[in-house]
Amino acid sequence: MDQSVPLRIDVRTPSRTYPAIIGPGTLAALPRLLDEVCGGSTRFIVSNPTVWGYWGSAMQDILPGAEAILVPDGERHKTLPTALRIYDALLRAAADRSAEIVTFGGGVVGDVGGFAAATYLRGLALVHVPTTLLAQVDAAIGGKVGVNLPAGKNLVGAFYQPWAVVIDPSLLATLPRREFRAGLYEVIKYGVACDAELFARLRRELGPISRRDPAVLTPVIADCCRIKAAIVAEDERESGARRVLNFGHTVGHALEAATRYRRFRHGEAVAYGMLASCAIASARGVLAPGDHDAVASVIAQLGPLPPVGDLSASAQLDHMRRDKKVHDGRLHFVLPTGIGAVSMVTDVSEDELARALRELGLGE
Ligand SMILES: NC(=O)c1ccc[n+]([C@@H]2O[C@H](COP(=O)([O-])OP(=O)(O)OC[C@H]3O[C@@H](n4cnc5c(N)ncnc54)[C@H](O)[C@@H]3O)[C@@H](O)[C@H]2O)c1
Ligand SMILES: [Zn+2]
Repeated sequence: MDQSVPLRIDVRTPSRTYPAIIGPGTLAALPRLLDEVCGGSTRFIVSNPTVWGYWGSAMQDILPGAEAILVPDGERHKTLPTALRIYDALLRAAADRSAEIVTFGGGVVGDVGGFAAATYLRGLALVHVPTTLLAQVDAAIGGKVGVNLPAGKNLVGAFYQPWAVVIDPSLLATLPRREFRAGLYEVIKYGVACDAELFARLRRELGPISRRDPAVLTPVIADCCRIKAAIVAEDERESGARRVLNFGHTVGHALEAATRYRRFRHGEAVAYGMLASCAIASARGVLAPGDHDAVASVIAQLGPLPPVGDLSASAQLDHMRRDKKVHDGRLHFVLPTGIGAVSMVTDVSEDELARALRELGLGE
């Protein structure tokens, strides 16, 4: 493995300051880090059979003696029954307040494992080791943990910052191609919404990034983590600044919900959402045509997105009206005003939105 020095980003939130350590091979630093930041007696690793199949033996070598708690793979298992399974395993092992939880997986494992850690005995030490690109650039930082209810996604949860985050891009080698790409759309989101240099780097290095060269991925992931850390530091509980990261998400969530979370990976729906926001901003004349083209072309270069031709624009509007980002009856929208700059608006009309959706290929 690459011996380069890992990057360290300190995430400073009102409730806790913690390090995110980023670089190929950082997994090996986990025992020392756990001793440093947690210092507990018993360790548990929450993972799923897929991730454990690829990386379980490496993890066992690194943390011998830690007990693995495997939960079923998939968003549909990000539920209270899965949290109960984790509590049961902890109870069987007589885990007390000094126990430590390491989550080892994608956003699902991080969210449900983090939720169990936040609630078992009112809170155990928690370290995230994210294994998907999405979780490395987004879910593992910021302290949101939770589960879905039958009525909707992420309806139960907490803000519970981890003690540390260990991000090893080498773990992405086994990620299915589609999952990797889904994460890249969130990276594009950070670039367009917050960081023109990151966006330029993405355009320049899309080839080696897509080949998952850990040396190229490390600074890209670090940039995303830095952006997320800065925003979370300012707005831990998502009341203001953090909403910038919802760029592409209003339409994205509608597409996901309208297709019952089956057609799109989250990042793919966000890619459409970013395109819709760009189309609205372009039509308003606040986004230059060249910038709009640049965003569309990076998204296109990553490969085809799932089709939307059979979906209706008006059904998406219905979903958006019900979305939790609708406050005081207005749709909150993050519109790009350039690369690396956005503005939050509440005056996007349904006509504008319908036009943008039709531009993406949706029907009436
Ligand atoms: N807490 C937050 O702030 C936050 C932010 C964004 C998303 N999320 C949540 O994250 C979840 C989505 O996360 P995700 O996209 O990581 O999906 P996921 O956790 O379902 O992982 C995707 C798939 O990849 C597999 N996988 C994971 N790592 C792998 C590896 N290294 N090699 C091979 N396969 C691997 C998983 O087993 C799974 O099948 C959603 O529930 C979403 O709500 C949370
Ligand atoms: Zn997202």
